Amino acid sequence: MRDKRRLVWSTRYSIHRDPVRVVEPDGLAQIGFWRTCSAILAYWLDSAINLSDASLQMIDQKTSISIVGAGALGQALALGIHRAGRNIETIVSRSRERGGQLAEAVEAELLPSCQGHSPRIVILCVPDDVISATAGELDCSPDSIVVHCAGSRGLDVLESCTSENVHTGSIHPVMVLARGGRGPEAMHGATAAIEGDHVSEPWLHQLACDLGMRPVCIPPERRALYHLSAALVGGLMTGLLAASADLWKLLELDRSTAVEALAPMVREAGLNFQKLGVPDVVMGPAARGDIGTIRMHLNELRTHAPHLLPLYRELALLSIPYAVERSQLDEQSAKDVRRALEFNED
Ligand SMILES: NC(=O)c1ccc[n+]([C@@H]2O[C@H](COP(=O)([O-])OP(=O)(O)OC[C@H]3O[C@@H](n4cnc5c(N)ncnc54)[C@H](OP(=O)(O)O)[C@@H]3O)[C@@H](O)[C@H]2O)c1
Repeated sequence: MRDKRRLVWSTRYSIHRDPVRVVEPDGLAQIGFWRTCSAILAYWLDSAINLSDASLQMIDQKTSISIVGAGALGQALALGIHRAGRNIETIVSRSRERGGQLAEAVEAELLPSCQGHSPRIVILCVPDDVISATAGELDCSPDSIVVHCAGSRGLDVLESCTSENVHTGSIHPVMVLARGGRGPEAMHGATAAIEGDHVSEPWLHQLACDLGMRPVCIPPERRALYHLSAALVGGLMTGLLAASADLWKLLELDRSTAVEALAPMVREAGLNFQKLGVPDVVMGPAARGDIGTIRMHLNELRTHAPHLLPLYRELALLSIPYAVERSQLDEQSAKDVRRALEFNED
């Protein structure tokens, strides 16, 4: 069946591209004759092909999906898709235990690898660096959809599939999904950057909506910048959270006490971000013009956590223009705060 489809596709493409190239006759009369013949041939083949296509099942929201990788996103997507009433046909996982549990939860078959796997729709939830290699293992059939989830990568990483007339695409939830986290619930209300062609993009748009996400299209040439914005908040900010919690060790309190104390603040900061937007979300001693407090913080950092000094300075400096924008600081106060932060006693 797959070979038949390939033959039909390649025939349609070569004839449609230039019907006259089917034959190369001499003389104008012959050209007219051969053109007519080739047009009839093209029409006849096209009808046959259309009939053949009609007999192929069209991809729609009921088409079964295969998920590759039972990690953080693979789990969240598979469970979300299953709960949305869609059919997951296969979970591909190298881990019999983790993959098996997920396959059972979504009533799917478990496969150990993509080698020779030929799904109609596949979503690759594997590390960014192995997307190309994993896609290359698939035995893609024409008209299927192959999707990756890396915000940092374009569709070129799925190049191995495009030669097979496969529809490639990507869906990147702007969310932090951790293994053992809230899974599909965490995707509710999240934005999802989608990219694809005339078949994969509408399909991904509907999938994002079914999972409670808001689909957006990012210009492909700005993808790295988009990913940087998400990585600063979702990825790098988590290092700041961990380092802030670790300061509680100096208070002789453990990490879990610190997390209990700081997590509600992080949640509220997120809610303020959503409710108030920029610049009103920006807070802190620099935004307030509290130079005495800034000096005290810098002293503590020098003594107890010098590795955080440059970060503190940069973050505080970052907040100043937003405080000026909403008239919390005037130009002179902003200058004084900058001077206090840049004054180097190290
Ligand atoms: N987590 C998020 O918040 C998030 C958000 C948006 C987008 N993404 C994207 O989603 C994709 C997966 O990220 P993740 O966070 O789910 O990572 P993850 O938790 O580390 O899971 C990745 C899974 O890929 C499989 N895998 C790992 N190494 C592999 C290899 N060398 N070859 C084949 N499979 C391999 C493993 O699944 P098995 O052990 O089951 O085979 C692993 O559990 C990435 O492209 C990432 O950028 C993640």
